[in-house]
Amino acid sequence: MIIGVPRDPHPGERRVAATPANVAALVKLGYDVVVESGAGAGSSFSDEAYADSGATIGDPLTADVLFAINPPPPGLRDKLPSGVTLIGMLNPRLDPDLVEDLARRPITALSMDAVPRISRAQSLDVLSSMANIAGYRAVVEAAHAFGRFFTGQVTAAGKVPPAKVLVAGAGVAGLAAIGAAGSLGAIVRATDPRPEVADQVRSLGGEYLSIESADVEVSSTGYAKQMSDDYNERAARLYAAQATDADIIITTALIPGRPAPRLITAAMVATMKPGSVIVDMAAANGGNVEGTVPGEVVVTANGVTIIGYTDLPGRLPAQASQLYGTNLVNLMKLMTPKSDGELVLDFDDVVQRSMTVVRDGELTWPPPPVSVSAAPAVAPAAAVVAKPAAKPLASPRRRMAMVGTVAAGLFLLAALSPAAMRGHLTVFALAIVIGYYVIGHVHHALHTPLMSVTNAISGIIVVGALLQIGHGDGLVTGLSFVAILLAGINVFGGFAVTRRMLAMFSRS
Ligand code: NAI
Repeated sequence: MIIGVPRDPHPGERRVAATPANVAALVKLGYDVVVESGAGAGSSFSDEAYADSGATIGDPLTADVLFAINPPPPGLRDKLPSGVTLIGMLNPRLDPDLVEDLARRPITALSMDAVPRISRAQSLDVLSSMANIAGYRAVVEAAHAFGRFFTGQVTAAGKVPPAKVLVAGAGVAGLAAIGAAGSLGAIVRATDPRPEVADQVRSLGGEYLSIESADVEVSSTGYAKQMSDDYNERAARLYAAQATDADIIITTALIPGRPAPRLITAAMVATMKPGSVIVDMAAANGGNVEGTVPGEVVVTANGVTIIGYTDLPGRLPAQASQLYGTNLVNLMKLMTPKSDGELVLDFDDVVQRSMTVVRDGELTWPPPPVSVSAAPAVAPAAAVVAKPAAKPLASPRRRMAMVGTVAAGLFLLAALSPAAMRGHLTVFALAIVIGYYVIGHVHHALHTPLMSVTNAISGIIVVGALLQIGHGDGLVTGLSFVAILLAGINVFGGFAVTRRMLAMFSRS
């Protein structure tokens, strides 16, 4: 089958649905890829780079599968070939007209923003990959508009206090913003009606501001529900108090399929310090802040800048394209079970079912709900399974007998050995006992570092064996050779394992 990658016709859109690296992965899956000339220009990917990766530069509308970023505008929809599979961010929850229009055509349409939030589908989740970039970029935009440092400093010229950042809504974008603002040195606070995010906020160095209310509960979908008046009143008091203190507010609150909740009123904005900045990430969905203009930057009468950009991921186009394209490649891997370039839509798979808006001209939206609870599911009372009784340890009497036998054997060996050998035997016996207790009591998790430490001991064995080899009879030489071999394996194996462990922690 042929995959087409068109140039996105929306003004200002700089992303492309597949990068040259993604094209190479698609070719490996058995597909032919046709890229429209100039499709990657906004993300700095040239036609030559696509051609080098195995794509053909041509008309993507000749393809069987069409990759898109945004939904095609009406004019382009009319040109969609019959039987084509359109894959893009179609936003079916908020755009029923588009869904209806697509269902009138003999096509199949899959929406990348309808992937259920289950762990198996994370590699396809464009909402997460784009929101992650957007959250980071929101902090960069805020820092650009804010006329001060984020970090606190004590200099000879005076003390600079750290900026205070409030993040409303700690979903994917919110958490990315908390991480980015914290790494710039700001004091970060965050709030969210889903209590399960508290630990995530804290793990990124933020302070979680909880709002006590009866309807605060762990979400069963990964998304918040519409909150009660009681919650909203308490939240409003918190936002009013924070507005007078915070230098930067980043709002990301969203309930899927609904207009964004209004969190910050014009009265709250009026109490903020001049020079403060608000980034309203929900601008495209109606905005969390009164006074936001989608796609614009406005400065209020009291000098507060409100940024309402709706294209934050597209402001880092190369990376946004790479992550979006990788999400698409992962979807194609899922839908190409034989890696033979043939797309198979499997409706028994909850991920593919959830994102299919139209199948062969038949409306399949909305899909059946998928539970993706972050709360531990209430398990049915588990039947009490009798544990097999642990194997009893050897009885004390048997252990004493074993120790006595071994000790008697060693005494006998010492009595029969030549005098020069006795000292060595004593050291050998003590080494066995001490070694057994030292290594036997090291926790399993520490066995790998222990192995690298034993390199030193193995080194001593190698030196000792080298001194002996060739100086005694055949038995001594043979034993020395075996000792060198085993100790050598331990030394080189230890180095190899240590290298792998260090590579896991080093940044490339
Ligand atoms: P998400 O669903 O992961 O997070 C939204 C968070 O808002 C959730 O944690 C939810 O619990 C919280 N929330 C819901 N109601 C709330 C309330 N009343 N008060 C406080 N928090 C509340 O969504 P994600 O992916 O993090 O996106 C966040 C927002 O950013 C969305 O509005 C999305 O459309 C927008 N976005 C904007 C972009 C831009 O360019 N401006 C780009 C990407 C995403």
